[in-house]
Amino acid sequence: MSTRARVAVLVGTRGRGSNMANLVAAGREGRMAGDVVLVVAPREDTTARRAAEELGVPTAVLPPRDPDYAARLTEALREARTFIVCLAGYMTLLPVEILHEWPDRVLNIHPALLPRHGGKGMYGHHVHEAVLAAGEPESGATVHLVTERYDEGAILVQERCPVEPGDTAETLAARVLACEHRIYPEAVNLVVDRHS
Ligand code: GRF
Repeated sequence: MSTRARVAVLVGTRGRGSNMANLVAAGREGRMAGDVVLVVAPREDTTARRAAEELGVPTAVLPPRDPDYAARLTEALREARTFIVCLAGYMTLLPVEILHEWPDRVLNIHPALLPRHGGKGMYGHHVHEAVLAAGEPESGATVHLVTERYDEGAILVQERCPVEPGDTAETLAARVLACEHRIYPEAVNLVVDRHS
């Protein structure tokens, strides 16, 4: 691809927006072959949406419960001439229309080594608590393609990190987050390469 990929980031209600901000920075600093052109949030008052606004990235507010959500989201993504959709803290299943219009170009990041510790209800501290409870020697982050089911699409990039003695969900989450920030721009680059 000769031009830079246009990336839309879909955030959720709970996240801080750190992956979104990292993708914005990666584009601006030339670490990623694309630029974040739109951030879509479910509510006006989310931390991630505010962070995007402060970074000067256009935002849209689209509540997934809206009966016209699929059509509105499609329209917003089309208007922004989106090439890649990145989910970052997005909590609901994506309308299938989006997966059809952006085939193999919708990515998600998960704070564990999929296929372990994924699926419905596995987000945030729940994931890290499950990793600790299972006595895993390591954890990490995964970027994968999005399908109609939670956390099941093809894995694009994974980075591993150790689980340290005495780790809590918080200390493990911080170590995993550093992995997330390294691999998400890398995964976008991989998808851009595949479609060039
Ligand atoms: C990240 O841990 C990501 O793996 C998960 O949701 C969290 C979002 O964090 N899908 P942030 O809002 O990007 O800081």
